[in-house]
Amino acid sequence: MRITLGVTGGVAAYKAAELVRRLQQEGHSVQVVMTRAAREFVTPLTFAALSGQKVITDLFADSSGGEANLESAIEHIAVAQRTDLLLVAPATADIIAKFARGVADDFLATLYLACAAPVVIAPAMNVNMWNHAATQENVAVLRARAVKVVDPDQGYLACGMTGPGRLASIEEILAAIHEVTKAQRDLEGETILVSAGPTCEDLDPVRYLTNRSSGKMGYAVAEAAAKRGAKVILVSGPVNLETPAGVERIDVRTAEEMYRSVAGRFGEASIAILAAAVADYRPVERRAEKIKKGDALLAISLEPTVDILAEVAKHKGQKIVVGFAAETDQVAENARKKLASKNADLIVANDVAAEGAGFDRDTNIVTLFSRDGRDLALPKMPKSEVAQRVLDEVVRLRAVLHSPAARLSNV
Ligand code: CTP
Repeated sequence: MRITLGVTGGVAAYKAAELVRRLQQEGHSVQVVMTRAAREFVTPLTFAALSGQKVITDLFADSSGGEANLESAIEHIAVAQRTDLLLVAPATADIIAKFARGVADDFLATLYLACAAPVVIAPAMNVNMWNHAATQENVAVLRARAVKVVDPDQGYLACGMTGPGRLASIEEILAAIHEVTKAQRDLEGETILVSAGPTCEDLDPVRYLTNRSSGKMGYAVAEAAAKRGAKVILVSGPVNLETPAGVERIDVRTAEEMYRSVAGRFGEASIAILAAAVADYRPVERRAEKIKKGDALLAISLEPTVDILAEVAKHKGQKIVVGFAAETDQVAENARKKLASKNADLIVANDVAAEGAGFDRDTNIVTLFSRDGRDLALPKMPKSEVAQRVLDEVVRLRAVLHSPAARLSNV
């Protein structure tokens, strides 16, 4: 795993050196980021020597404290993308406050905002600072955001006081990392079939019918599922997106091709998440020559395509099948109808008329309607986060639907 270790300014900063060594012994590569205050306690050279990597310090200057350059100005994005886990040890009251409030005035605080990876923090500070309502409120905010907080130990502190505030032991920090990474790989052993993007239904060699789907939602699901340990097969309509790491991608163009691919691979899957915006109709005839313009009215006859989701879900057995519903009105009613008519276990419904939701955006506002009767309305969030919540619901359903009681009552 690629761990980015943020070291902030406290007496315990020296203990992070041992942490680097232990993380490397566990086979991780460690990129160290130091705040300005941390460098008052330990030199970057110590961490560079231990980690074998350049230590990142300022946001706008290179590590030697030289002139600002473009490479360093956008480095936080590159580091964010290659971070599998962000660990901050020791974490001062200051960095905790910055994370909680979204302040981005140094490299580490900016990285936190840019980074989608899980975050573990190990606070260390004076006992009064730790107990202060401001710090406790900030810690609560981070916990609510699923940041793993390794509580400080009780004991004698460098300031001469005793109480909670000492950096947790290396063992406790490592255990927290194990817990987080294990929870993150909760789809290990599953094969997830994902469909994404629009379909294109050709009228003639140059014209086709399509829709405004960008594929972003389905790709976010595929990426998140692969990161959580699943084998992912992605059947994709024409989109402008990169294939997520570790995902097998099958490109298709029409609803018919998508149906054949999805149906062909459905047998291998334990979970199917069909997020594609499949054309409901296609031209009856695909002309071999370009349609010429004329003065008369031109009518195009359309015929229905196969409802891929409904068709494959007929024979789903123990598989969990998830569909999406793009609605403009009566969202809950329509979504519940689709859940039943398509024999799905979960419908992710979004009101495409709402601000911040729908096609070709990076955010979405969805409600998850589950087979066991639960409705979960989520606030506006990035599609990457929606993908995680959909997978969380799939994991919950897996436990509910596959429980012995559920099998008997056929939920
Ligand atoms: N879907 C599918 N095959 C189709 C049409 C839709 O597999 N031919 C799937 C989509 O991938 C999505 C779900 O069905 O997961 C819902 O699609 P949506 O277009 O919202 O619903 P429809 O059933 O097409 O109903 P309508 O367009 O009338 O709302």
